[in-house]
Amino acid sequence: MKTPIADFVKSYQESDAVRLHMPGHKGKAFLGMEKSDITEIDGADVLYSPDGIIEESENNASSLFGTRHTFYSTEGSSLCIRAMIFLACQNEETPLVLAARNVHKAFVYAAALCDCEVGWIYPEKPSHICACEISAEDVKRAIESSDRKPSAVYVTSPDYLGNLLDIKSIALVCKEYGVPLLVDNAHGAYLGFLSENQHPIKSGASMCCDSAHKTLPVLTGGAYLHVSKNAPESFYSNARSALSLFASTSPSYLILQSLDMCNAYLSDCYRDRLAETIVRVDFLKDFLKEKGFCLMGKEKLKITVDALSYGYTGNELYEILKSEHIFCEFSDKDFLVMMFTPENSAKNFERIKSAFNSIQKKTPIEREKLQLTEKPERALSIRKAVFSPAETVDTEKAVGRICASVTVSCPPAVPIAISGEIITEETMKSLKHYDINKIEVIV
Ligand SMILES: Cc1ncc(COP(=O)(O)O)c(C=O)c1O
Repeated sequence: MKTPIADFVKSYQESDAVRLHMPGHKGKAFLGMEKSDITEIDGADVLYSPDGIIEESENNASSLFGTRHTFYSTEGSSLCIRAMIFLACQNEETPLVLAARNVHKAFVYAAALCDCEVGWIYPEKPSHICACEISAEDVKRAIESSDRKPSAVYVTSPDYLGNLLDIKSIALVCKEYGVPLLVDNAHGAYLGFLSENQHPIKSGASMCCDSAHKTLPVLTGGAYLHVSKNAPESFYSNARSALSLFASTSPSYLILQSLDMCNAYLSDCYRDRLAETIVRVDFLKDFLKEKGFCLMGKEKLKITVDALSYGYTGNELYEILKSEHIFCEFSDKDFLVMMFTPENSAKNFERIKSAFNSIQKKTPIEREKLQLTEKPERALSIRKAVFSPAETVDTEKAVGRICASVTVSCPPAVPIAISGEIITEETMKSLKHYDINKIEVIV
């Protein structure tokens, strides 16, 4: 597959060009990659109205992902989420999105920016703030009990712990009610390249975002906004203006080159490399299970260890691995999350195995019971709460106050209290459980 963006930049950097344009480094090496860091010069196309190399490269990505069109983002899935919510709410007088509760904070801020009401869908048995294992039945019930037709249903799959929702069945329900399905697929860019395509677009979603940088060999910030062939026409025709509404006017050409090169990588031998990696991850999973670890989630490139049942906190396991110079994606009191790609070598797997081999099982630690299904009362709209004056207080002192901006660190950036909700005793306990000791409340 051709790489028009990377080819253009390469020939520009090899030419004897005098750079009288941004960026200010003029191609001189300070970090090392400045030569290939350019801006939208003549011939380099324009990200939000492309008709040259960017258009050609996005068309390549669209054919790889089987979409109506795949739009590039150099500002992560966060930008794509804002664009998706804008597109779903555009032209709606009182937009309502039904969303599974484990949203990334970018969704909450998108709802604030678009002044969209959110109806939350909760799982029957919550296991963690990051998980919200809802079924197609739950979605059906939420649509039917809604006071008006929702502008969209919004779900996160895979979630941070590696759980996958049944997107096919959820998409069928959405189709039945004529409601577009939007998927936060930030963790699942690779899903379309499995032996059985599990990408949300293939499974019937109208739009989804993928953080290419999370699971593909793409520089941090590189992401896709995919619009399905079956999505409403306006999603496709207004997607660029929706992205540019929230985006910087200075897209990173390093990231664009990286997304462009990734097309060639995906079309070459990626499927085989992915399949090989999954075999290695599966071996490691089997090894850990034999050692007595309980694993969570069904995602193929993630291993989520239930640390408590092995007698450790997730944070303790993280530190043990760190002492062996192994750095995991995420840990908290309950879990440890490891993310793999074909770029992890066979040696990496050996080191992980040997580090786990020396960890002895201890008496299981009892899991703290949290009221994660509690449905907090809403005092203000998300928008009003986010835009109101706020102060930071100790979490213990926040009970009875209204949550302002969502206070969550990244990862996992999944808010427990959502802007506009009244913080209850139970919410406070959950915040404390996840070591959130300060929270922003409305003054
Ligand atoms: C589930 C989920 N959605 C969205 C995002 C935002 O993605 P990005 O960092 O590409 O903006 C993240 C980031 O961690 C995430 O975990």
